[in-house]
Amino acid sequence: MILVTGVYVLNGPNLNLLGTRRPEVYGTMTLPDVEELCREEATRLGLDLVFHQSNHEGRLIDWIHEAGARVKAGEVIGAVFNPGAYTHTSIALHDAIEGTELPVVEVHISNVHRRESFRHHSYISPVARGTIVGLGTDGYRLAIDALHRMSLT
Ligand code: DQA
Repeated sequence: MILVTGVYVLNGPNLNLLGTRRPEVYGTMTLPDVEELCREEATRLGLDLVFHQSNHEGRLIDWIHEAGARVKAGEVIGAVFNPGAYTHTSIALHDAIEGTELPVVEVHISNVHRRESFRHHSYISPVARGTIVGLGTDGYRLAIDALHRMSLT
């Protein structure tokens, strides 16, 4: 029997700048800090963490395809995904999630609904299992926990 043991956390453009980019909006945690908190949560739940960030849409699509195939192989439970600004522009990321049937929890550190109107629409939300918005970097922890709960039902 193969045990399902993995969870992906994918981060889109500019999230490598966390900690220095608009700390009044995104806080002072760096991306390595976020990886560490995700690893703690995954370990607590008995999951291996695969953590990536890219500024390139195609790279994110490749990781979605990889994660989707690994879900189908029973190796991974799904992906936490903060698509950054691609949230508001990318039909290609929408199609990748839809096409692979990857269970995704969409995360935004900031409350995009309290910000500029161009951040109010998400191409990802219609193909996500759920969204966590505006709870800071703690949203990543909550999203891993949510994917884990979903995988048990
Ligand atoms: C973000 C919100 C997006 O609108 C923005 O482009 C980001 C970060 C967030 O985590 O709050 O890069 O996804």
